[in-house]
Amino acid sequence: MTIKAIYVQPGGGFERVTLGTCDSSTPKTGEITVRVRASSLNYHDYAVVSGMWAPAVPRIPMSDGAGEVIAVGEGVNEFAIGDHVVSTFLPGWLEGEPEVDDMGTVPGDGIDGFARQQVTMPATAFTRAPKGYSHAEAATLTCAGVTAWRALMVDGALKPGETVLVQGTGGVSVFALQFAKIAGATVIATSSSDEKLARLETLGADHLINYRKHDNWGDLVRGLTAGRGVDHVIEVGGPATLAQSMVAARIGGHIAVVGILSGTTGTLPLLSMLTRQLRLQGLVVGSRRHQIEMIRAIDATGLRPIIDRHFPLEEIVDAFRYQETNRHFGKICLDIEP
Ligand SMILES: NC(=O)c1ccc[n+]([C@@H]2O[C@H](COP(=O)([O-])OP(=O)(O)OC[C@H]3O[C@@H](n4cnc5c(N)ncnc54)[C@H](OP(=O)(O)O)[C@@H]3O)[C@@H](O)[C@H]2O)c1
Repeated sequence: MTIKAIYVQPGGGFERVTLGTCDSSTPKTGEITVRVRASSLNYHDYAVVSGMWAPAVPRIPMSDGAGEVIAVGEGVNEFAIGDHVVSTFLPGWLEGEPEVDDMGTVPGDGIDGFARQQVTMPATAFTRAPKGYSHAEAATLTCAGVTAWRALMVDGALKPGETVLVQGTGGVSVFALQFAKIAGATVIATSSSDEKLARLETLGADHLINYRKHDNWGDLVRGLTAGRGVDHVIEVGGPATLAQSMVAARIGGHIAVVGILSGTTGTLPLLSMLTRQLRLQGLVVGSRRHQIEMIRAIDATGLRPIIDRHFPLEEIVDAFRYQETNRHFGKICLDIEP
């Protein structure tokens, strides 16, 4: 059977995004076929599609996919036809210590992704979706959700009463705010926009800082914590924000080095890192086990992702152009018709 698929041609760039077809396949032993109903945009997908990290071969983009199981291969006991599932970012990393340091196995980058109507993959490349979630809601979890979860709950071992700093209002940061609040933490949130700060407050942010108006926001964060600094920083800005994040963190604090929004290289104030005894922890999303544990917490708390806008699959370039404006708050989703 032939299905609809989006391709990014070698070299990338929005003008090299094409609508085409690919063949669907029947699942072999250990595989399932999923009718993909939604995906969600991440900065990573933007980098692939826009040409920043262009593919060398024609590539079906998008790391995140959610939908329903339509066929099950031999030996698969975990899923049945009709189950709602969501993909994992690193399909080969099931649990335990980190195993992957490149994007070679990541759907939508090293292998074909979810901008298509169906996929057949190992069953272990999926988990079940949270109860009652739409496909679009489930599709927000693969990259942004698991990253925020791992940074706070796994690497950070967040405890109630601790203080978390989140930066900006993209997918990872809004999830981090939500997870921090369900864990009983105090949250300090930054944004370039007062309007977005007001929305962060409705999600439970305790303190708000406009980072455009205050270059020294690290000092302001320290002030809000009576000089102590925060226990955890979800660092998404990269070289433009890391120095202030180090000012904002408490002595011995944890900085989850997540993002590269302002570039991939910069200077590191080593003396401050050393004297303040900071723990800078890099991470690449998380394992399938992290995703399962996150979904268990979502089921228990009723947490819902914040979706800013939906676009049909065919309007994927418009969706990325919208993401590029940074007007979004939370996640942007693609809906895929069967
Ligand atoms: N390491 C990992 O495993 C991992 C996983 C997921 C994402 N990431 C990385 O994390 C970053 C965020 O990803 P995302 O998908 O959440 O992006 P996104 O949804 O596109 O987030 C964009 C938002 O980030 C904020 N922002 C931009 N520049 C900023 C700066 N200099 N300081 C503070 N905030 C800034 C803006 O919020 P305001 O408009 O509110 O200012 C902007 O709207 C990216 O670099 C991405 O590659 C890494």
